[in-house]
Amino acid sequence: MLSLKNLRVNHGPLTALWDVSLDVRRGEKVGLLGANGAGKSTTMGAIVGLYPRASGTITYDGQVLERPSTAQTVAGGIALVPEGRRLFAAMSVLENLEMGVYAAANRKDRAASLARVYQLFPILREKATQNAGELSGGQQQMVAIGRALMSRPRLLLLDEPFIGVAPKLIDEILSALHSIAAEGVTMILVEQNTHRALDFVERAYVIENGHTVLEGSREQLLADPTFAAKFLGL
Ligand SMILES: Nc1ncnc2c1ncn2[C@@H]1O[C@H](COP(=O)(O)OP(=O)(O)OP(=O)(O)O)[C@@H](O)[C@H]1O
Ligand SMILES: [Mg+2]
Repeated sequence: MLSLKNLRVNHGPLTALWDVSLDVRRGEKVGLLGANGAGKSTTMGAIVGLYPRASGTITYDGQVLERPSTAQTVAGGIALVPEGRRLFAAMSVLENLEMGVYAAANRKDRAASLARVYQLFPILREKATQNAGELSGGQQQMVAIGRALMSRPRLLLLDEPFIGVAPKLIDEILSALHSIAAEGVTMILVEQNTHRALDFVERAYVIENGHTVLEGSREQLLADPTFAAKFLGL
């Protein structure tokens, strides 16, 4: 479904990604692991066209993406839940959710999409008219995920969705993500907590200093001594 080959991305004079390659098949849940500054968010941003490629290719649904615009990635069914949520704090929960409906094609499904988001996160219906900035961290994360779902994605990119979220709400969000995945939505999860990531994903890639250095199934990674030493604190 998605394939990155030898992706290189610069932020001005700084090269953030040197050589990132990964493949995600339809319906998979794939993790993207790595230390602070490794290039995880840059990888996610490059997929949705926030950052131009210096070299390498991004193929989605068999088509090479040049530098896609947000409208194109949304139309293609890719949605990003960005690091730090990026909500409009002074706008209501409902207004934030509606920001996720870009394409005309999604507009007619608006009511059904909203009903689905409220079904996954019932608290958002109760808080619909409150400003997003007044919600707890976990509830704000629900809004950010709900906003992404309003575009009816087939590929959902989640960048550290559990930062600043209380444990109880992490469980609620994980359970919603399982329901979304069960509907066939493909997911890439960026997560610093390796144990939590590997509980959720089937397979993961490790990025170090802008290079993909390791890839494997959950079982392979857990059995890999180098991986264990670096990421499992063993
Ligand atoms: N907009 C930007 N402008 C300049 N440099 C950036 C920008 N975004 C990221 N960088 C730099 O690019 C490198 C990769 O950053 P990136 O945010 O992709 O890492 P990350 O793996 O997501 O880290 P974290 O776990 O801290 O979120 C880092 O050296 C970072 O300082
Ligand atoms: Mg990041």
